[in-house]
Amino acid sequence: MTGQKIDGIAVANSVKDRVRAAVAELKKDGIEPCLATVLAGDNQASASYVASKQKDCSEVGISTKDHRLPQSFSQQELVSLIDLLNNDKTVHGILVQLPLPEHLDEFSVITMISPIKDVDGLTPYNMGLLAYGRALLKPCTPSGIIELFDYYKIDLSGKHAVIINRSNLVGRPLYHLMLEKNATVTTCHSKTKNLKEHCLEADVIVTAVGDRSRFTLTQDMVKSGAVVIDVGTSRLGNKLAGDVDYDNVIKNASYVTPVPGGVGPMTRAMLLKNTVTAASISKGIVANR
Ligand code: GUN
Repeated sequence: MTGQKIDGIAVANSVKDRVRAAVAELKKDGIEPCLATVLAGDNQASASYVASKQKDCSEVGISTKDHRLPQSFSQQELVSLIDLLNNDKTVHGILVQLPLPEHLDEFSVITMISPIKDVDGLTPYNMGLLAYGRALLKPCTPSGIIELFDYYKIDLSGKHAVIINRSNLVGRPLYHLMLEKNATVTTCHSKTKNLKEHCLEADVIVTAVGDRSRFTLTQDMVKSGAVVIDVGTSRLGNKLAGDVDYDNVIKNASYVTPVPGGVGPMTRAMLLKNTVTAASISKGIVANR
């Protein structure tokens, strides 16, 4: 069998259409959804991600406030900026682009963000709600993956899902979201033994290693009919590549996400959705769970 390509761009566009409509409704009520972006340091990749996020916002009618801090910024100055944004009634969402420069403590900075403006869903409060199955603001990449399953009517109930990643941005929150969908979830990571055996037992594999020189998910690791979600991005020669050997894995799988055009657009779309949710929360309107 040959599997189907999951079209992340099409699904992201459908999310963006819904966000655009929700933004228009909020504006009718006098609420102008606004995302504050914070970029600390001179990481070029981070700068281009932030620019893309701002462009996405303008496409759906969300305004942005751009904060750029030099590499030398102190933890205290960054915390003061977040405090200012927490108290700014015109700002509904705060996005601190990660990774932060090494001299800053990521956990303490994230912890300072008001949970109701935490459009990354990364504060301990929102991560705790996620573990309870009650989060409103969920991390963007994992919730984007769930949106793909819903769109393609991929039922996770009773399925064995293997996640190759344990980060706070992807693997940990995705574990809870897939459990919520009644999957049996195994989290694999750099110290996991017999990774191939785990993968061969999986009905769904989500891989997020992001270093093709270290790891490739190959056809012989994927059982017939499995769903494969590729979150990894790395350079292979002069091309962008995922973790998955796409051309061969699709021969075994039922569905595979491509890189680019799979999970990436979904991560960006879910940030917009979270910003609308945060703007709604700010006015006591909570449209969705
Ligand atoms: N860096 C890589 N992915 C993300 C993300 O989803 N949110 C933030 N804030 N930083 C990131």
